[in-house]
Amino acid sequence: MRWRVRPGVALAGGVILGIVFAFAVWDLTPLRPVGPSPTSVTPAAVPAIVYTAQATPLAASPGGSTVATLTPATALQVLGAQGSSLHAGLDLYRSPDSPAILYQDPSTLARAGVLASPGDAQPTGTVDIAGSSWQRVHLVGWVARSATAPDVAALWSQASSLYAQTCSSCHTAHDPSEFTGRQWVSQFRAMVPRTSLTPAQADLILRWLQAHAAKQ
Ligand code: HEC
Repeated sequence: MRWRVRPGVALAGGVILGIVFAFAVWDLTPLRPVGPSPTSVTPAAVPAIVYTAQATPLAASPGGSTVATLTPATALQVLGAQGSSLHAGLDLYRSPDSPAILYQDPSTLARAGVLASPGDAQPTGTVDIAGSSWQRVHLVGWVARSATAPDVAALWSQASSLYAQTCSSCHTAHDPSEFTGRQWVSQFRAMVPRTSLTPAQADLILRWLQAHAAKQ
């Protein structure tokens, strides 16, 4: 038996098949963006510089292995954001004699943190500061957004009230400008064991004293 199809039916069938095919192709074209890109920068929401509000890890990836443990009040250049993490860059210094210890400012000996594996950080140059040779180190990593503050002023006011409470119980509190940043390191370390400051609180107060110390 031969199939005989009338032209009208063939045309209607062709149109229906065409429509089904067009819809299938249209649905298979996922050119619309699928969510935010991994390191989308949100300049309106995130300032270019933020500060660590507490001792916090700098991680190789969001929630990943620790590159360095950062001291409170360390400046971070915001490179981007992903979820609850910030992508940050840091320009720091270290002494060739103790390559794990990172400084924000070698002239005051203000610390920025401690490297997990000092050998992994390649120095980008050498500078002479206060009569010694310092290596420049550029670090990039991730910090929890909740461990940062947009402004250092709030951290300094926290530090100064902690200082007033803690360091005036036996003698009147010494004005930060009585000593240079370098002198505060030894003065402060001699006094911390007489207090009940946590290491993170002590780090924050020392950073505040150094930021408000006498110039060399
Ligand atoms: C438990 C009592 C006590 C507390 C708390 C204390 N100090 Fe002292 N501080 C002393 C005594 C006593 C001296 C005198 C020198 C000594 O014994 O070392 C002194 C000396 C100093 C000096 C040396 C002054 C000079 O002219 O050389 C500085 C600076 C100082 N303290 C800062 C601090 C700071 C900062 C804190 C808070 C972290 C602090 N002190 C907390 C007891 C205390």
